[in-house]
Amino acid sequence: MKIIAINSSMRKGRTYELLTNIGKKLDYDFEIINLKDYKINYCLGCEVCIKKDYCVIKDDVEKLKEKLINADGIIISTPVYIENISGALKTFFDRNCKWVHRSELIGKPVLLVSTTAGSGLKEVLNYLESVVISWGMKPCGKIGRKIQEKKDVSSEELQLFIDNIEGKSKKEIIKLSRLIRFQVQKAMSTNLLDLDKHFWEKNGLIIKSYFYEENTKINPISKFISNQFGKFLSKKIRENAQKVKIQGGDKIG
Ligand SMILES: Cc1cc2nc3c(=O)[nH]c(=O)nc-3n(C[C@H](O)[C@H](O)[C@H](O)COP(=O)(O)O)c2cc1C
Repeated sequence: MKIIAINSSMRKGRTYELLTNIGKKLDYDFEIINLKDYKINYCLGCEVCIKKDYCVIKDDVEKLKEKLINADGIIISTPVYIENISGALKTFFDRNCKWVHRSELIGKPVLLVSTTAGSGLKEVLNYLESVVISWGMKPCGKIGRKIQEKKDVSSEELQLFIDNIEGKSKKEIIKLSRLIRFQVQKAMSTNLLDLDKHFWEKNGLIIKSYFYEENTKINPISKFISNQFGKFLSKKIRENAQKVKIQGGDKIG
């Protein structure tokens, strides 16, 4: 089993120390990727990745993506910078915005880690969770530490991640908010861009209630509500697209 851990601090400080600590407790092939050692340019905002499925920037992002895609589990870590994630990690996230449309990490277990001098830990860990959920990943815990806390990472904090890597986890409860979010992504992806639609069809996501359904517990009422919401949203998006087309046609005419 291969675990890739991303350290998005520009130094080997407390965040790196925590990752090293985690690595020692995991009996797997463990690699820490320090983003500072890779060339990661800013996203240009051209959306070519979304619309044409390639990135115009030639740097190390593709290499990093491959490492994540091939990993059995991923750890994403960041120091709290101005109540948020580090700029390096945000740049890396921006460069992978295609994954919100066509994720290559669906169902992959992910552990989230953050360090701080005092503030922002909860908000940053929640933000990280929100990103990985939009990529269809499987969140398996959040570990946060204040720098003055010298507490090691405990086995309990790693258990869910380990269970998921080994395929021994209990059923994951997918809440209504996550189901709704999936439906929003589905409605956008299947009605606005052929490339996305093809991906969602090819991967069977079009008929699913969530990115992955095995080993999950989904309340039937929540499933029904979110599915209905998805259908409603799809209809609205199609109607809107039609209106824009007609108005565009009128103008030309
Ligand atoms: C640019 C910058 C911004 C920071 N912003 C915050 C902050 O908003 N709140 C906070 O409590 N600590 C803040 N810190 C402190 C770091 O979160 C803390 O030192 C972190 O654990 C450093 O991780 P590292 O040792 O892995 O680099 C900031 C540090 C830097 C360098």
